[in-house]
Amino acid sequence: MFDFKIAEADKAELYRQLRDAADALTAGEPDAIANMANVAALLWEALPDLNWAGFYRNVNGELVLGPFQGRSACIRISFGKGVCGTAAATLEPQCVEDVNAFPGHIACDSASASELVVPLVHDGRLIGVLDLDSPRVARFDAEDVRGCAELARMLAPRLAAATKAPAAS
Ligand code: SME
Repeated sequence: MFDFKIAEADKAELYRQLRDAADALTAGEPDAIANMANVAALLWEALPDLNWAGFYRNVNGELVLGPFQGRSACIRISFGKGVCGTAAATLEPQCVEDVNAFPGHIACDSASASELVVPLVHDGRLIGVLDLDSPRVARFDAEDVRGCAELARMLAPRLAAATKAPAAS
């Protein structure tokens, strides 16, 4: 549906296109899981050198695996644990050059060498985190952090869980 043909060197333009595509895909769709699934697919297609791209959701104070692309991953991560749990606990992006040097890193895929995790915050509430893994050490830089943080800001309201279904009678 979207065709990304931007040189990796032009990251600002790549992230601008990614944001536009994610905006178009999620605008007007209230289902958080559907939106996460489409954005995970977009990230996977648009960003080079990834081996995992997706979401963990804040479910009652615990991170629970959401839609993603890549190998199957650990399902539950406590706040404060690993790179994802650190982003959730601090509400700060975590850009890790070498995951083997990160104390407590959770190795879901042994191919992962670097990782970027950005918290998703809406109305002062942590919705979850966006997680990108790469098999290349130091794959992510300040421009990736900025690009993903802007994407997260735009998307957070559309990734917040929809209202609860009424009880079945
Ligand atoms: N490496 C993450 C766990 C999630 S996987 O990378 C998909 C962490 O340390 O939190």
